[in-house]
Amino acid sequence: METTPALFPLLLLFLSLCVCCCHGNLRPTPRVYLSYKELLETRTIRPFSFSFNTSDYRILHMDQDQGRLYLGSREYLVSLDMQNINKEPLIIHWPATAQRKGECRLTGKGGQGECANFVRLIEPWNRTHLYTCGTGAYKPVCTFINRGWKAEEYLFRLVPGYVDSGKGKCPYDPRQENAAVLINGNLYAGVHVDFMGTDPAIFRTLGDRPAVRTEQYDSRWLNEPVFIKIQKIPDSAEKNDDKLYFFFREKSLDAAGGSTPSVLARVGRVCLNDDGGQRSLVNKWTTFLKARLVCSVIGAEGVETYFDELRDVFIQRTHDERNPTVYAVFSTAGSVFKGSAVCVYSMADIRNVFNGPFSHKHGHNYQWTPYTGKIPYPRPGTCPGGTFTPGLHTTKAFSDEAINFVRAHPLMYHPIYPTHKRPLVVRTGVDYRFTTIAVDMVDAVDGRYEVLFLGTDRGTVQKVIVLPKDPSTTEELILEEVEVFRTPAPVKTLKMSSKRQQLYVSSERGLTQVSLHRCAVYGKACSDCCLARDPYCAWDGETCSAFTPATKRRSRRQDIKHGDPLRQCRGFNSKEKRLRETVQFGVEGSSTFLECQPRSPQATVKWLYQKDGKRKALSRDKEILKTGHGILLKSLTQSDAGLYHCLATENNFKHTVARVSLRILDREIVDALTAPDGPVEPERHHQHHHHHHQHPPPPPPPPQSPHQTPPPGLQQLSPQPEVRLINQYCQTYWQQQSPNQAQKPKRTNRRHTEQQPQELQAQ
Ligand SMILES: *[C@@H]1O[C@H](CO)[C@@H](O)[C@H](O)[C@H]1NC(C)=O
Ligand SMILES: *[C@@H]1O[C@H](CO)[C@@H](O)[C@H](O)[C@H]1NC(C)=O
Repeated sequence: METTPALFPLLLLFLSLCVCCCHGNLRPTPRVYLSYKELLETRTIRPFSFSFNTSDYRILHMDQDQGRLYLGSREYLVSLDMQNINKEPLIIHWPATAQRKGECRLTGKGGQGECANFVRLIEPWNRTHLYTCGTGAYKPVCTFINRGWKAEEYLFRLVPGYVDSGKGKCPYDPRQENAAVLINGNLYAGVHVDFMGTDPAIFRTLGDRPAVRTEQYDSRWLNEPVFIKIQKIPDSAEKNDDKLYFFFREKSLDAAGGSTPSVLARVGRVCLNDDGGQRSLVNKWTTFLKARLVCSVIGAEGVETYFDELRDVFIQRTHDERNPTVYAVFSTAGSVFKGSAVCVYSMADIRNVFNGPFSHKHGHNYQWTPYTGKIPYPRPGTCPGGTFTPGLHTTKAFSDEAINFVRAHPLMYHPIYPTHKRPLVVRTGVDYRFTTIAVDMVDAVDGRYEVLFLGTDRGTVQKVIVLPKDPSTTEELILEEVEVFRTPAPVKTLKMSSKRQQLYVSSERGLTQVSLHRCAVYGKACSDCCLARDPYCAWDGETCSAFTPATKRRSRRQDIKHGDPLRQCRGFNSKEKRLRETVQFGVEGSSTFLECQPRSPQATVKWLYQKDGKRKALSRDKEILKTGHGILLKSLTQSDAGLYHCLATENNFKHTVARVSLRILDREIVDALTAPDGPVEPERHHQHHHHHHQHPPPPPPPPQSPHQTPPPGLQQLSPQPEVRLINQYCQTYWQQQSPNQAQKPKRTNRRHTEQQPQELQAQ
């Protein structure tokens, strides 16, 4: 009874593989998935390999002109070469003083090591200096860094003796998110201002303008916000109309009611030239407005699923600086249902909502309604000295009426819907969430494509394109998903340099530089390259390689829209190496596994069986178990001998992935050879010989990936004289039946295939 338990878990494994495949069709699967190890082997990534005592690698600032990437982490500032982050990094140790750390611990705040200086802001100040802030062990501090090229050397050092207060610029608590931007010497920050972390604000400090903030402790303005991003976006050619947009999420005011979500995604804005009010809202924004960002899908039963937890925002410039495209990543609030989505917003839609009705609490039941009364002049949210207010030069000249109105009505009535009123990408029913986003616009042979890079909470980056299918639907393709960290951790920050074709991805534990493409992994054939539909990659006549319009050659083949190799690879398909036929032996009455793993999980697989020159579809369902790795023929008979073709179809393109010639060994011959007087050591077979008469030998487990050597067994024996083969088979069979092997086999497929060869060697 030893072989039956050995066989049973394997069958279970096959069954579970099959179930996976069937469900996989409902969810988008990446065409290529690379583990961290596999990704390293492609030589297209560089993990930052300098080890020093740090963590929390969240601050990344790219300086495209100087080719430097600045990293801020716990107690360290690092200047990196954007081309190669491991090339002579310049490191500044910037700890909180021992005295400060001691004081911090006395306040009881140092629980999980928070009594340290966590860098939270690195912004360019001028050509030669950066401005940086850190939490300073619960006492935020800021300073200047002198940086830049001096002769042949790159300089990177703190300005000695200079320290600024970080209050209103950087949080006290390293666990609180912040966002900041320096514009014309003014620092605008979304930040918690106090030691207790209960006073959040949009704060303006530094520079020549008066310090201004949001109304304090007014939940109508900000209600436990989490700040995501701040960016200046001009509204018109008139500089006085320039506005600052900030993206955040906050607690809903009506959450207690139950019908509204507990968290809402927001976009807010203020005028850059807002100097606060004269009699009221002194040193407070007088142009502050906010609106809800909606990202939702309508399900099969008309139920709307909202993604409210705003996670990251990427602002893609266009030829018109007033109208960038806003990409936002959301996840569902709450923990029951894991889902995320990417929604895209136009500035036109955002402005329309800010130009629309204000939200107003009305009636005994305090419903939100659109405000229908008289709106004061200037209309709240209008900048002084701008297109509509040429006679008003400062917000201090605004009427009391206007100031009082904006104080009580900071919220717009209408929410902002995404382009096409639906998300660009949706993920539900998966066990991960998106955390970050970057978008590249890529010029391919057949047009311009937006390529999304989406960081996940499982330490991977997905590369996604969305193609229009017909006027109302789109087709989403996950070109690849790659594991970017040695130890999986949620992606915290994702930055992209289109110019250098690199991504910089960081987590709590590390930083990795990843190339935007690795075309060679798609395969060696033109059809593989074409089916991959990666706008960065084209077939150049010999290999699948990075495509740049600048180095355009006539022979380049690329077809993102259709991915049709028949058209694109004419003349190349025939040159692809003819697939070699492999010979495989099976034993009458036992099972055997025929491997076939198409390169793409998006391909559908069909098996053909050929005998006496005639091919037909393999249809003996009862005796065959189909898996994602091949098929298991459960009980072989002599009539199973013949040629098996595995055909993969992807995007209407068919090609043969495997061709296996199966030969069947006579059970009697095998029995004779493995009988007591057979060529095997006597003490082993005494223990086991009666088992194999009753039970067929277990099938070899399916290999996990084509790179792994298949486990020893019946598979892949090259054609040799029959007797030698039979001997070899028997030897393997007996080794599999040895006492060590008879213990319960491992459930996980990968470990099983990896361990088997070692155990065999040990004998
Ligand atoms: C690393 O830094 C932390 C925080 O500053 C400190 O508590 C710890 O002792 C340091 N560890 C080592 C090995 O120096
Ligand atoms: C940049 O700013 C720093 C700090 O304020 C100042 O010392 C330096 O002179 C400035 N450099 C230039 C080129 O303006």
